[in-house]
Amino acid sequence: MSGRPALGGLARAWVWALLLLGLCAPSPQPAPADPCPCEESALCRPVRDSRDFEVFVFDVGGKAWKSYDWSQITTVAAFGKYDPELLCFAHSKGSRVVLKGDVPLKNIVEPTFREAWIAKQLTLAKKQYMDGINIDIEQEVEESSPEYYALTALVKETTEAFHREIEGSQVTFDVAWSPKCIDKRCYNYSGIAESCDFLFVMSYDEQSQIWTECIAAANAPYNQTLIGYESYLKMNIDPKKLVMGVPWYGYDYHCLNLSEDHVCTIPKVPFRGAPCSDAAGRQVTYKAIMQQVNSSLSGSQWNAQQQAPYYNYKVSGLEKFCNYLVAEQLYHPQKYYSAAYLPQ
Ligand SMILES: *[C@@H]1O[C@H](CO)[C@@H](O)[C@H](O)[C@H]1NC(C)=O
Ligand SMILES: *[C@@H]1O[C@H](CO)[C@@H](O)[C@H](O)[C@H]1NC(C)=O
Ligand SMILES: *[C@@H]1O[C@H](CO)[C@@H](O)[C@H](O)[C@H]1NC(C)=O
Ligand SMILES: *[C@@H]1O[C@H](CO)[C@@H](O)[C@H](O)[C@H]1NC(C)=O
Repeated sequence: MSGRPALGGLARAWVWALLLLGLCAPSPQPAPADPCPCEESALCRPVRDSRDFEVFVFDVGGKAWKSYDWSQITTVAAFGKYDPELLCFAHSKGSRVVLKGDVPLKNIVEPTFREAWIAKQLTLAKKQYMDGINIDIEQEVEESSPEYYALTALVKETTEAFHREIEGSQVTFDVAWSPKCIDKRCYNYSGIAESCDFLFVMSYDEQSQIWTECIAAANAPYNQTLIGYESYLKMNIDPKKLVMGVPWYGYDYHCLNLSEDHVCTIPKVPFRGAPCSDAAGRQVTYKAIMQQVNSSLSGSQWNAQQQAPYYNYKVSGLEKFCNYLVAEQLYHPQKYYSAAYLPQ
């Protein structure tokens, strides 16, 4: 879900721990069915209806889900701690709740390891009465490497196993904003799309690799976002298998220099071969942006080329060094949806 290097490292460390356990028990025991945590046992049944339109939400824990607009949501990917209350509530609204899946790719080159990993995910999903899995692997892969083939196989085998074992279940895969080896993720995108229910396209963190001037730009510039979708469609990926991911956060950059026309030069922080990246900035939530924008130095501004809002502000302690910060806001969601590229 997030391409930030720091988060990725943390997630990998955690997954390692799980996998070592998996190795000790390559064929997990069928889970003793946990008692249904919901008031009505019917709410423990996986959701079976198919949808024409997906509204897929990543939930990172806490109780924010209580304020979601549940009339819209079709699937919640549970990236936080398992919350049975969330599961029961989502099922009462006919929404799916899916697991997060991640695994070090060098480990899944071996087919028996893939099999053990899939069995473990299935056991967990069943035990928690969940409706599928969202595979979020953001690791580097070279084209035609053993990992390249193993990843496509992993997605295919996971989908087959989940569809077979949990009726109506959903298997999805998170991809970068463009299929063109973003962050050295050279995957078999068309093969993966074919092998799962749909791709979740992360149309954000689009400055993870800055190849031109090291200047702050929007989390998801409009043109860049569309170019990404066009590239997926050119690979003959079924448009129905592309779900657009919209960010609810922005980036806050410290500018080395802020020109009069609001061009913010950022420090060089390389990422996966690119000289500069959004890792020079800090992710800020939508809420924090909304609280700050009106009292900022510039107020809300609009970058016409990127079709994205932004603002500049100044940190008082640093004023004498003339250091400014620029927070790149997210799109106004309403505008984004109405302007979204809707493939035929
Ligand atoms: C991608 O995966 C599909 C499905 O497994 C396969 O048919 C195709 O040959 C693969 N493409 C490449 C370039 O490896
Ligand atoms: C830094 O910003 C100032 C003020 O707008 C501008 O005159 C100058 O050209 C900028 N310097 C660089 C290196 O971009
Ligand atoms: C910020 O300003 C806009 C435009 O003037 C206004 O609509 C909005 O309510 C203000 N937000 C806050 C939090 O004050
Ligand atoms: C985006 O597209 C518009 C219209 O085609 C064009 O005017 C603008 O320069 C483009 N922006 C970028 C960053 O390419």
